[in-house]
Amino acid sequence: MKILILGDVVGSSGRQAIKKYLSQIIEKYRINFSIINGENAADDGKGITKDIAEEFFSLGVDVITSGNHIWDKKNTLSYIEKENRLLRPANLVAGSPGKGFEIYFSKNKEYKIGVINLMGNVFMTKTDNVFQTARDILKKITLKKNVDFIVVDFHGEITSEKMAAGYFFDGIATCVVGTHTHIPTADTRVLEKGTAYQTDIGMCGDYNSVIGMNKENSLKRFLKDKDAIQHFPALGEGTISGIIVDADEKTGLAKKATRLILGGILEK
Ligand code: FE2
Repeated sequence: MKILILGDVVGSSGRQAIKKYLSQIIEKYRINFSIINGENAADDGKGITKDIAEEFFSLGVDVITSGNHIWDKKNTLSYIEKENRLLRPANLVAGSPGKGFEIYFSKNKEYKIGVINLMGNVFMTKTDNVFQTARDILKKITLKKNVDFIVVDFHGEITSEKMAAGYFFDGIATCVVGTHTHIPTADTRVLEKGTAYQTDIGMCGDYNSVIGMNKENSLKRFLKDKDAIQHFPALGEGTISGIIVDADEKTGLAKKATRLILGGILEK
């Protein structure tokens, strides 16, 4: 079983890269389930629209996860109630629209995959305790009991909290990936008890930027230049960044984790 997870798609550069590479990746690596984090996919890098989500699904994406920008486009509040394949962090305040975890079928309909979307508590929008939420979800989704595989997208700012989440889920989930910082880390591995892990799987977008945003303007903002404006996405060629997990069908745990960097300046 091959599971593909791609990091935060940023603006039109990120979407173009998905359009260009996703079907090739699915075919080449025989991907049986694909997840992307889509919370920065809108043209301005904030949130996602129904049209964009539907385009992703038509390109072969099975589930879209998200994070702190999930409600940036107001229509998402109603769209998420109808679209089961779009997740928001499970530990948002009680009563938030949509779902933070769900069970899906693999592309060949042979396997059940539980996808859990969480958001860190440190330096992020105020949320419920992420580890308590994870404990509660694990009472409902259990490997080899009601699902064959479990994927966790941990959307968080700091490396330590994400690493702790990796160990928390080790042997319990097929894989735990970090998202949100938009920079891929070089610690791709399978943890001791069999969970594939990478602290951050990076972004799909233009890396000739400051985490996907126009670099000149971002620098002006850091320099407190009065001409600086709101952040807006860089528009150069996008790089695909993510992870491919080769999972064991018997145990539901990972055999191998491979970092994927394709196209744009990061591949060069
Ligand atoms: Fe984020």
